[in-house]
Amino acid sequence: MADDNEVTLTIDGKSVTTPKGSVVVDAAKSIGIEIPVFCYHEKLGPFGCCRMCLVEVEKMPKLTTACTLQVAPDMVVKTNTPNVEKAQKGVLEFTLLNHPLDCPVCDKGGECPLQNNTFKYGPGDTRMEFERANRDKATPSVQLSLLIGSVVSLVNGVQDTAISLNKRVH
Ligand code: SF4
Ligand code: FES
Repeated sequence: MADDNEVTLTIDGKSVTTPKGSVVVDAAKSIGIEIPVFCYHEKLGPFGCCRMCLVEVEKMPKLTTACTLQVAPDMVVKTNTPNVEKAQKGVLEFTLLNHPLDCPVCDKGGECPLQNNTFKYGPGDTRMEFERANRDKATPSVQLSLLIGSVVSLVNGVQDTAISLNKRVH
């Protein structure tokens, strides 16, 4: 039985009771349901810029980001419907548009959220058979942009500052 500081909701048919104010991505994790993320970290709070964590919520007309959505009583969340899977594939396809195909020789290989999420949730093939952008100078990758966003979020969390990113990273 939930007390006043707890909320009970349903995720993928499983009931979960979680502290008020927590977000759906953490509630799901507490019962072993993984919602893929890039820009979210439980210690930094919601950031909401990568769209990797889209889920379906009953009575909501569109998919929504599970990392910014606070739990509510009797909320019904679905993390694995065809619409969610299509959105996850789309986000990854877009993220990988100009990403080099360098995993075997990349320093991040084996410990890379982009690699892991692509393997688990990405499209099995690509529709993007064209020459990738080849820039003379190094430009920030999506992952670097997300990391910068996380650092901004961290700085804002520990200091009373107002640094902001005025654009999504993609
Ligand atoms: S950053 Fe990750 S996905 Fe990209 S090449 Fe390196 S290991 Fe692969
Ligand atoms: S993890 Fe939710 S928007 Fe990035």
